[in-house]
Amino acid sequence: MPDIEIVDLFAGPGGLDVAAKHLGLTATGIEWDDGAKATRKAAELGTEPGDVRNFGPEKFDDANVLAGGPPCQTYTVAGTGSGRRALEDVLGFAERMAKGEDVRSDLTRLDDVRTGLVLEPLRWALAAIEQGRAYDAIILEQVPAVLPVWVAMGKILESVGYSVDHGVLRAEQFGVPQTRRRAILIARRREVGAAKMPKPTHRPFRKGVPREAGDPSLKPWVPMREVVKRPQAYEVVSNYGTGGDPKARGRRTCFEPSATVTGKISRNRVVALDGRELDRFSHGEAGQLQTFPEGHPWRGRDVAQQIGNAIPPVLAAHVLAAALDLEHEVLAKAVDELSGGRITV
Ligand SMILES: C[S@@+](CC[C@H](N)C(=O)[O-])C[C@H]1O[C@@H](n2cnc3c(N)ncnc32)[C@H](O)[C@@H]1O
Repeated sequence: MPDIEIVDLFAGPGGLDVAAKHLGLTATGIEWDDGAKATRKAAELGTEPGDVRNFGPEKFDDANVLAGGPPCQTYTVAGTGSGRRALEDVLGFAERMAKGEDVRSDLTRLDDVRTGLVLEPLRWALAAIEQGRAYDAIILEQVPAVLPVWVAMGKILESVGYSVDHGVLRAEQFGVPQTRRRAILIARRREVGAAKMPKPTHRPFRKGVPREAGDPSLKPWVPMREVVKRPQAYEVVSNYGTGGDPKARGRRTCFEPSATVTGKISRNRVVALDGRELDRFSHGEAGQLQTFPEGHPWRGRDVAQQIGNAIPPVLAAHVLAAALDLEHEVLAKAVDELSGGRITV
């Protein structure tokens, strides 16, 4: 592959772009939120401020890779309801776009603007082909419920010359000290090579199963205390009970990976194992659970939301390395730098 330049749509504080930087790649992220832009500036990440819908591939003519994590509705495939209707809307528009229709004015009339946003990466991919500058690789990331959208987009990308792979990855299987699951799509122009998802390097976490147990060809999952070191052992108590039952509140000890880090992480209590209340996670600590480097310069308002929105940079490094066929040593060096040597590949 030639020099790699990424244009990252809905770039947030830059989970993917921080990974790209440590992999030695160039990335420009399009983002409109003031807080995320302030963090990006402090972290010296390339940024085009503004609304993704107002730009197109022609403005980023050196970019040969497209990435994006658009804000999305929740799509439920089973059953009826708004989730399924939202999915039908998206798929209907995607098919019209694949036939070459410009659906932008119709999208502005929809009640939920997120329907249009999730289609933006497809608009960019098709426009780039039209302009004779097809992206060599495309990488999309979102919550698992968005997988049916990636499957539909994958079929369209296959019909216009891409090899596509998609699936739901478990962050802890890539050494992230967190059991976050994410739906990923990787597409590569067929002339460039076949698309393939990254292979897990670590074992999946199962409550109560020791980290030493399981597939001996994989490394044990990484516990929270490996990255968030406190003088004493601790337990994180989620603010939410499953099904609204406070007794069912999620608990993870520092000897386990964190539950999914969300924008509400500051509501989680941190307690010593003897029950004493400890300081809640700082932004720096929450960022490290997401595998942002120690000392990452968080800025602006609603930092917790910025952190919760991001793809963990270590997971992003694995996804980028698979999508761009990077050398193992390049990935290993990036993960080592991101984690201060605490996570290996
Ligand atoms: C799920 S987050 C993406 C996080 C990012 N992938 C990362 O790893 O840090 C979605 C981001 O899209 C931004 N956003 C939403 N609508 C936008 C638009 N129309 N134009 C630009 N940015 C937008 C939000 O401010 C938010 O930061």
